Amino acid sequence: MSDDFPLRPFLPADTMALRDLFAQSIEELTVDDYDEDQRLAWAASAEDAAEFRARLGGMLTLVVHLDGEYLGFGSLKDNKTIDMLYVHPDFAGEGVGTAIADALEKIAGARGAKAVMVDASDSSVPFFERRGYTAVQRNSMPRDDQWLSNTTMIKPLADSKSKAPATAKPS
Ligand SMILES: CC(C)(COP(=O)(O)OP(=O)(O)OC[C@H]1O[C@@H](n2cnc3c(N)ncnc32)[C@H](O)[C@@H]1OP(=O)(O)O)[C@@H](O)C(=O)NCCC(=O)NCCS
Repeated sequence: MSDDFPLRPFLPADTMALRDLFAQSIEELTVDDYDEDQRLAWAASAEDAAEFRARLGGMLTLVVHLDGEYLGFGSLKDNKTIDMLYVHPDFAGEGVGTAIADALEKIAGARGAKAVMVDASDSSVPFFERRGYTAVQRNSMPRDDQWLSNTTMIKPLADSKSKAPATAKPS
Protein backbone atom coordinates (compact mmCIF):
# COMPACT_ATOMS: atom_id res chain seq x y z
CA MET A 1 0.00 0.00 0.00
CA SER A 2 1.27 3.43 -0.93
CA ASP A 3 0.29 4.74 2.50
CA ASP A 4 2.97 2.54 4.05
CA PHE A 5 5.74 4.36 2.19
CA PRO A 6 5.90 8.14 2.50
CA LEU A 7 7.10 9.75 -0.72
CA ARG A 8 8.88 13.04 -1.01
CA PRO A 9 10.58 14.95 -3.82
CA PHE A 10 14.28 14.40 -4.52
CA LEU A 11 16.73 16.73 -2.75
CA PRO A 12 20.34 17.30 -3.89
CA ALA A 13 21.48 15.86 -0.54
CA ASP A 14 20.01 12.48 -1.57
CA THR A 15 22.43 12.11 -4.49
CA MET A 16 25.14 9.90 -3.01
CA ALA A 17 22.72 7.60 -1.17
CA LEU A 18 20.60 7.15 -4.29
CA ARG A 19 23.68 6.48 -6.37
CA ASP A 20 24.57 3.64 -3.96
CA LEU A 21 21.00 2.37 -4.02
CA PHE A 22 21.00 2.47 -7.85
CA ALA A 23 24.20 0.38 -7.99
CA GLN A 24 23.01 -2.15 -5.37
CA SER A 25 19.61 -2.50 -6.99
CA ILE A 26 21.21 -3.28 -10.36
CA GLU A 27 23.85 -5.55 -8.85
CA GLU A 28 21.41 -7.74 -6.91
CA LEU A 29 18.00 -7.45 -8.51
CA THR A 30 18.97 -7.81 -12.18
CA VAL A 31 21.53 -10.58 -11.78
CA ASP A 32 19.31 -13.18 -13.49
CA ASP A 33 19.03 -11.13 -16.69
CA TYR A 34 22.29 -9.19 -17.15
CA ASP A 35 25.84 -10.45 -16.79
CA GLU A 36 28.41 -8.78 -14.57
CA ASP A 37 29.92 -6.61 -17.31
CA GLN A 38 26.46 -5.39 -18.30
CA ARG A 39 25.50 -4.61 -14.69
CA LEU A 40 28.73 -2.72 -14.09
CA ALA A 41 28.25 -0.68 -17.28
CA TRP A 42 24.65 0.10 -16.26
CA ALA A 43 25.63 1.17 -12.73
CA ALA A 44 28.49 3.27 -14.13
CA SER A 45 25.93 5.56 -15.75
CA ALA A 46 25.58 7.17 -12.29
CA GLU A 47 29.33 7.38 -11.65
CA ASP A 48 29.48 11.12 -12.22
CA ALA A 49 27.63 12.37 -9.14
CA ALA A 50 27.02 15.87 -10.51
CA GLU A 51 25.53 14.44 -13.69
CA PHE A 52 23.38 11.98 -11.72
CA ARG A 53 22.14 14.79 -9.45
CA ALA A 54 21.28 16.92 -12.47
CA ARG A 55 19.47 14.01 -14.12
CA LEU A 56 17.34 13.28 -11.04
CA GLY A 57 16.76 16.96 -10.35
CA GLY A 58 15.71 17.57 -13.95
CA MET A 59 12.80 15.16 -13.65
CA LEU A 60 10.01 14.66 -11.17
CA THR A 61 11.85 12.33 -8.83
CA LEU A 62 10.19 10.78 -5.79
CA VAL A 63 12.13 9.20 -2.94
CA VAL A 64 11.11 6.76 -0.22
CA HIS A 65 13.26 7.63 2.79
CA LEU A 66 12.04 6.00 5.97
CA ASP A 67 13.65 5.91 9.41
CA GLY A 68 16.95 7.08 7.95
CA GLU A 69 16.99 4.42 5.21
CA TYR A 70 16.61 4.93 1.49
CA LEU A 71 14.18 2.30 0.22
CA GLY A 72 13.75 3.39 -3.39
CA PHE A 73 13.25 6.17 -5.91
CA GLY A 74 11.59 6.77 -9.23
CA SER A 75 11.51 9.51 -11.85
CA LEU A 76 8.92 10.77 -14.30
CA LYS A 77 10.33 12.39 -17.44
CA ASP A 78 8.37 14.80 -19.65
CA ASN A 79 5.28 13.85 -17.68
CA LYS A 80 4.89 10.61 -19.67
CA THR A 81 7.87 8.30 -19.14
CA ILE A 82 9.04 6.44 -16.05
CA ASP A 83 12.72 7.02 -16.64
CA MET A 84 14.01 5.39 -13.46
CA LEU A 85 12.57 3.06 -10.82
CA TYR A 86 14.96 1.44 -8.37
CA VAL A 87 14.33 -0.28 -5.05
CA HIS A 88 17.00 -1.22 -2.53
CA PRO A 89 17.45 -5.01 -2.58
CA ASP A 90 16.88 -5.21 1.19
CA PHE A 91 13.36 -3.87 0.62
CA ALA A 92 12.44 -5.56 -2.67
CA GLY A 93 9.07 -7.28 -2.82
CA GLU A 94 7.57 -5.15 -0.04
CA GLY A 95 5.56 -2.77 -2.19
CA VAL A 96 8.04 0.11 -2.48
CA GLY A 97 8.15 -0.05 -6.29
CA THR A 98 4.36 -0.17 -6.38
CA ALA A 99 4.06 2.90 -4.14
CA ILE A 100 6.42 4.93 -6.33
CA ALA A 101 4.89 3.78 -9.64
CA ASP A 102 1.37 4.45 -8.32
CA ALA A 103 2.37 8.01 -7.47
CA LEU A 104 4.17 8.71 -10.76
CA GLU A 105 1.24 7.39 -12.82
CA LYS A 106 -1.22 9.40 -10.73
CA ILE A 107 0.77 12.59 -11.22
CA ALA A 108 1.10 11.98 -14.98
CA GLY A 109 -2.65 11.41 -15.25
CA ALA A 110 -3.48 14.48 -13.18
CA ARG A 111 -1.29 16.53 -15.51
CA GLY A 112 -3.14 15.29 -18.57
CA ALA A 113 -1.08 12.33 -19.81
CA LYS A 114 -3.17 9.74 -21.66
CA ALA A 115 -0.55 7.02 -21.20
CA VAL A 116 2.71 6.30 -19.39
CA MET A 117 5.71 4.62 -21.01
CA VAL A 118 8.77 2.87 -19.66
CA ASP A 119 11.85 1.22 -21.13
CA ALA A 120 11.64 -1.71 -18.75
CA SER A 121 14.68 -3.77 -17.88
CA ASP A 122 14.23 -7.48 -18.55
CA SER A 123 14.11 -7.95 -14.76
CA SER A 124 11.25 -5.50 -14.31
CA VAL A 125 8.99 -6.56 -17.22
CA PRO A 126 6.84 -8.82 -14.95
CA PHE A 127 6.43 -5.94 -12.48
CA PHE A 128 5.17 -3.60 -15.19
CA GLU A 129 2.97 -6.29 -16.79
CA ARG A 130 1.20 -6.71 -13.48
CA ARG A 131 0.54 -2.98 -13.50
CA GLY A 132 -1.18 -3.09 -16.91
CA TYR A 133 1.72 -2.19 -19.19
CA THR A 134 2.06 -3.96 -22.54
CA ALA A 135 5.21 -4.43 -24.56
CA VAL A 136 5.59 -2.27 -27.66
CA GLN A 137 9.13 -3.00 -28.82
CA ARG A 138 12.46 -4.51 -27.84
CA ASN A 139 15.51 -2.25 -27.67
CA SER A 140 19.24 -2.73 -27.39
CA MET A 141 21.02 0.18 -25.73
CA PRO A 142 24.79 0.78 -25.76
CA ARG A 143 26.38 1.48 -22.37
CA ASP A 144 30.14 1.79 -22.40
CA ASP A 145 31.27 -1.25 -24.37
CA GLN A 146 28.18 -3.27 -23.49
CA TRP A 147 24.74 -3.69 -25.04
CA LEU A 148 21.75 -3.86 -22.69
CA SER A 149 18.33 -5.02 -23.79
CA ASN A 150 15.08 -3.55 -22.55
CA THR A 151 11.45 -3.40 -23.60
CA THR A 152 9.41 -0.29 -24.29
CA MET A 153 6.07 -0.76 -22.53
CA ILE A 154 3.00 1.43 -22.42
CA LYS A 155 0.04 1.75 -20.07
CA PRO A 156 -3.02 3.78 -21.04
CA LEU A 157 -4.25 5.91 -18.18
CA ALA A 158 -7.93 6.05 -17.38
CA ASP A 159 -9.52 9.25 -18.63
CA SER A 160 -10.44 11.19 -15.51
CA LYS A 161 -13.52 12.58 -17.30
CA SER A 162 -14.87 9.11 -18.00
CA LYS A 163 -14.31 8.25 -14.33
CA ALA A 164 -16.60 11.00 -13.08
CA PRO A 165 -19.27 9.51 -10.84
CA ALA A 166 -22.54 8.76 -12.64
CA THR A 167 -25.50 10.89 -11.69
CA ALA A 168 -27.81 8.94 -9.45
CA LYS A 169 -31.09 8.08 -11.17
CA PRO A 170 -34.31 8.46 -9.22
CA SER A 171 -35.74 5.04 -8.37
C1 LIG B 1 11.27 -3.71 -10.48
C2 LIG B 1 11.34 -3.14 -9.06
C3 LIG B 1 11.32 -1.61 -9.10
C4 LIG B 1 10.10 -3.67 -8.30
O1 LIG B 1 10.10 -3.05 -7.01
P1 LIG B 1 9.52 -3.83 -5.74
O2 LIG B 1 9.39 -2.85 -4.64
O3 LIG B 1 10.34 -5.03 -5.47
O4 LIG B 1 8.10 -4.29 -6.27
P2 LIG B 1 6.78 -4.50 -5.39
O5 LIG B 1 7.14 -5.10 -4.06
O6 LIG B 1 5.97 -3.26 -5.36
O7 LIG B 1 6.05 -5.64 -6.27
C5 LIG B 1 4.78 -5.49 -6.87
C6 LIG B 1 4.41 -6.80 -7.55
O8 LIG B 1 5.32 -7.08 -8.62
C7 LIG B 1 5.95 -8.34 -8.38
N1 LIG B 1 7.34 -8.24 -8.80
C8 LIG B 1 8.22 -7.29 -8.45
N2 LIG B 1 9.42 -7.54 -9.04
C9 LIG B 1 9.24 -8.67 -9.76
C10 LIG B 1 10.10 -9.45 -10.58
N3 LIG B 1 11.37 -9.12 -10.79
N4 LIG B 1 9.59 -10.55 -11.17
C11 LIG B 1 8.31 -10.92 -10.97
N5 LIG B 1 7.45 -10.22 -10.20
C12 LIG B 1 7.91 -9.12 -9.61
C13 LIG B 1 5.84 -8.58 -6.90
O9 LIG B 1 5.87 -9.96 -6.59
C14 LIG B 1 4.48 -7.99 -6.59
O10 LIG B 1 3.46 -8.87 -6.93
P3 LIG B 1 2.12 -8.99 -6.02
O11 LIG B 1 1.46 -7.64 -6.11
O12 LIG B 1 1.35 -10.09 -6.65
O13 LIG B 1 2.61 -9.30 -4.65
C15 LIG B 1 12.61 -3.65 -8.31
O14 LIG B 1 12.64 -5.05 -8.39
C16 LIG B 1 13.92 -3.09 -8.84
O15 LIG B 1 14.39 -2.06 -8.38
N6 LIG B 1 14.56 -3.81 -9.79
C17 LIG B 1 15.91 -3.51 -10.26
C18 LIG B 1 16.02 -2.24 -11.06
C19 LIG B 1 15.16 -2.27 -12.29
O16 LIG B 1 15.23 -3.15 -13.13
N7 LIG B 1 14.35 -1.21 -12.42
C20 LIG B 1 13.50 -0.99 -13.54
C21 LIG B 1 14.19 -0.05 -14.47
S1 LIG B 1 13.02 0.51 -15.65
